[in-house]
Amino acid sequence: MSAVSVTANGTGAVDAQAAAGEESAGFDIEHAEATEDFETTGTPFVDNPKMSARNVNVYYGEKHAIMNVSLDIGQNEVIAMIGPSGCGKSTFLRTLNRMNDIIPICRVEGNITLDEEDIYTSGQDTVLLRARVGMVFQKPNPFPKSIYENVAYGARIHGLAQSKAEMDEIVENSLRRASLFDEVKDNLDKPGTGLSGGQQQRLCIARAIAVSPEVILMDEPCSALDPIATARIEELIDELKEKFTIAIVTHSMQQAARVSQRTAYFHLGRLIEVGETKDVFTMPRHQLTENYITGRFG
Ligand SMILES: Nc1ncnc2c1ncn2[C@@H]1O[C@H](COP(=O)(O)OP(=O)(O)OP(=O)(O)O)[C@@H](O)[C@H]1O
Ligand SMILES: [Mg+2]
Repeated sequence: MSAVSVTANGTGAVDAQAAAGEESAGFDIEHAEATEDFETTGTPFVDNPKMSARNVNVYYGEKHAIMNVSLDIGQNEVIAMIGPSGCGKSTFLRTLNRMNDIIPICRVEGNITLDEEDIYTSGQDTVLLRARVGMVFQKPNPFPKSIYENVAYGARIHGLAQSKAEMDEIVENSLRRASLFDEVKDNLDKPGTGLSGGQQQRLCIARAIAVSPEVILMDEPCSALDPIATARIEELIDELKEKFTIAIVTHSMQQAARVSQRTAYFHLGRLIEVGETKDVFTMPRHQLTENYITGRFG
C-alpha cells in the first residue's frame, strides 16, 4: 500500500500546505476510486490491541460505505469515533460485533480480530461474539420487561447464574456499575420502559455489562439525553474503562475530548486520522480533521 495523503477539495488551505511542501496535495477524496492507495494519517495501530481491523471495506449493495479502514482498539482504552453525518461511523462500529450481518444488503470485507482471533469465520457464534463485544445504541431500547428482567436477560441466555441468588447479584452489580441501582432498587419489578431517557440508557448499559463483555460499542449513547444525564454516562464511561475496552461514536467533540484517550476521524467512508485525543484536537495532522474540528465542515 503506497502512502497517499488526502486533501480537502477547494479549501485553499490545501494549496498553502502544498506550497509549504507538506504531504497533502494531489488526492481528491471526493472523487477517489481506488481503496488500496490510501493511508490513514497518525497512529492507527497500538502495541497491545484488544481488537484489530485490517483493510475493512463495507458495501450496502453498490454503495461503498467503508473504504479500506485499518484500526486497532487498545486494551482498556476509550476510543472516540467522530466525523460528519454519513461518513460511516456507525457502519464501522457495527463491523466490530458483526451487527451488520443482520442487514441483508450489507457486505463486509477485510479482517477483524478480537484477541487476535478472526471474528468473521463462518463458525463464529455471533450471539457469543455480541456477549463479548456488547453494544449500546443511540436511542435507549429497553425490552418491554421489568427493570430486573432487562438486566437479567443476557445473563440468562448465557447461563451465567446457577441460582436466583446469583442472578440477583448479577442484576444488582450491573445496576450499581451503571450507577442506576439506588434510583431503581425499590422498583425492580416495574417496566424498564417507564424510566426516564437517561435512566433507560443507564439500564441499557447495565444490560450490556451484565454479561461481562470485554468490549462495549456505544453509538452516540448520549444524543437523546440532557446535560445531567450525559455527565453521568460520561462518568460511567470513565469508570468502565478500568474493566472494559470502549469504542464510542459521538457527534460531540467536547464529549470525545472528555472521555477518550484516542480519537479516530472518519470522512466519506475513510479513516482520515487517528491519534491521542489531545493531539487530534489541538494539533490535527490532516487538513480534513482540522476543518471538522474547527467547525468548517460537518
Ligand atoms: N442499512 C443501510 N442501507 C443502505 N445504506 C446504508 C445503511 N446504513 C448506512 N448506509 C449508508 O452508509 C453510509 C454510512 O452510514 P452510517 O450510518 O455508518 O454513517 P454515520 O457516520 O454513522 O452517520 P450519522 O452521524 O448520521 O449517524 C451512508 O451513506 C448511509 O447512507
Ligand atoms: Mg451513525
